[in-house]
Amino acid sequence: MNSNPFQIPGPCILPSVLAADFGRLGEEIADVDRAGGDFLHLDVMDGHFVPNISFGPPVIASIRKCTSAYLDAHLMITDPVRYAPAMVKAGAQNVTFHVEVVDDPAATAREIRKLGCRVGITLNPGTAVEKLWPALDDVDVVLVMSVVAGFGGQKFMPEVLPKVEAVRKRLRDDQRLEIDGGIATDTIRRAFDAGAQWFVVGSHIFEKPDRAAAIRELRRQLGQ
Ligand code: DX5
Ligand code: ZN
Repeated sequence: MNSNPFQIPGPCILPSVLAADFGRLGEEIADVDRAGGDFLHLDVMDGHFVPNISFGPPVIASIRKCTSAYLDAHLMITDPVRYAPAMVKAGAQNVTFHVEVVDDPAATAREIRKLGCRVGITLNPGTAVEKLWPALDDVDVVLVMSVVAGFGGQKFMPEVLPKVEAVRKRLRDDQRLEIDGGIATDTIRRAFDAGAQWFVVGSHIFEKPDRAAAIRELRRQLGQ
């Protein structure tokens, strides 16, 4: 898998570990590596910002030991500044926080950047895209959620595509535009055409018996 996706413009396919079998996590990661995933998306949920609990730094540290893949952490938690140091220490390389949980997103981005990682900002489908603008110069990644954050296996919301287009127009070449939720063979192309570069895919890779075929089919939709 790729250990520095900022060296390439994309597109990249990011298997989302949330959909893996946690009892066989090492094997699952090796499998999506062989299957052609680009790097890994790690969903951290606190049971407070979202009504679900996933995993935190100890699991990220275990993942770090079994792959050299770039680790993209999506923090669905109410206090990202408090917990970001532990995420980075565990091995997260990009740390994405939700704009909904902070008063000053630019200050939050600068605070997280001090840890030596890349920084991402994200927003739920119901949040206005303009909320991102004050922080745009201070982030490396903008993640547009195409489902309400909290659970894998939800249906893609095409109404977020205008947000992807609006963000695309404002990003620099060294920044990346990521999309997460319901990405599958029938939705990935629309997200790509709107300007997305990093595609998070959970259930549509991990729930397939042949993950290589699933990733090939996703790439085919992108003309890869
Ligand atoms: C949802 C998470 C996603 C999730 C995507 O809150 O942020 O990363 O794993 O899963 P799928 O691809 O199944 O929608
Ligand atoms: Zn995610």
